[in-house]
Amino acid sequence: MPSDNRVLICDSIDNAGIESLKKSGMVVDYQPEIGPVQLGLVAKNYDVLVVRSRTKITKEIIEASAQNVKIIARVGVGLDNIDVKEAEARNVRIINSPEAAANSVSELVIGLMLSLARNIPFADTEMKKGNWVKKDLIGTELRGKYLGIIGVGSIGRNIGRMGKALRMNLIGHDIFPINRDYIKEVGLIVTDFNTLIESADFITCHVPLTTETRKMINSEKLSKMKSTAFLINTSRGEVIDEKALYDALRNGTIAGAALDVFENEPPTNNMLLKLPNVICTPHIGAQTNEAQELASMVIAEKIIQTLREI
Ligand SMILES: NC(=O)c1ccc[n+]([C@@H]2O[C@H](COP(=O)([O-])OP(=O)(O)OC[C@H]3O[C@@H](n4cnc5c(N)ncnc54)[C@H](O)[C@@H]3O)[C@@H](O)[C@H]2O)c1
Repeated sequence: MPSDNRVLICDSIDNAGIESLKKSGMVVDYQPEIGPVQLGLVAKNYDVLVVRSRTKITKEIIEASAQNVKIIARVGVGLDNIDVKEAEARNVRIINSPEAAANSVSELVIGLMLSLARNIPFADTEMKKGNWVKKDLIGTELRGKYLGIIGVGSIGRNIGRMGKALRMNLIGHDIFPINRDYIKEVGLIVTDFNTLIESADFITCHVPLTTETRKMINSEKLSKMKSTAFLINTSRGEVIDEKALYDALRNGTIAGAALDVFENEPPTNNMLLKLPNVICTPHIGAQTNEAQELASMVIAEKIIQTLREI
């Protein structure tokens, strides 16, 4: 059992994980508002640094602390705020908890699809202004529509199951082979990227941010989509060329988009936010009680396990 190990939690995380670390005998310092200067000074006093997305674990912080720090733990998915290369070079393990968010992100995607199909945010805003806009609100059903899933990983697969329950037809594209049992289970049509783009009524992105996926949805791809298509992005903002998307939405190249993620977060002067056919949420895919609790518990378990192995 790991004991006497010191853990510094640098961002706010659910209490369940903190309790679990304490129960295992670790000394836990919870400093969810710690700034970069202070962190640079104290990081060397810990065995484990725990962050979400606010705290940046830079090369300098790793250099100053790697004599003691054995693990950098990211509660959540992306590792964009950690200098992974430097950590690996200094033998510091990096762990995260991507599995915890899958259900919450998937449910948000379904919510965004329904919001686009029925223009729910517009209906709500107009009602509250005292306007009865019934005749302007002829929407579309999801049933029978083609849902294109780009990246059939843990979130993409979950969305496929939900889409099936809504009686949608599923098209999927991934760079790796998709599990055969899963394909059979949901009746997924597996295609290349271009076929998906050209055939889907709703297109949802679930790829990680890599050199290949950066701006994979660009003006060329947008021009191939149906003019009635809706695009949903809850993956990473950089996966879409925002300028090209703005043009496509203004020109009617596609019908609408729902975005939970942006190239710059929070977005500043982002013209997409001004368009009536865009629905935006502030990166809330994993912002549920369930996902946060699960993420903190998964991370705590992984920290305990990794310290046992080291
Ligand atoms: N909005 C949020 O709050 C939130 C929360 C969690 C995750 N995410 C994001 O969701 C995305 C997916 O997460 P996940 O847990 O499903 O990841 P995952 O690793 O389980 O799945 C990603 C899939 O994308 C595939 N892929 C990679 N490159 C590809 C390419 N060029 N073309 C097609 N497919 C490709 C992979 O093979 C894999 O199957 C990530 O970008 C993650 O950062 C967002």
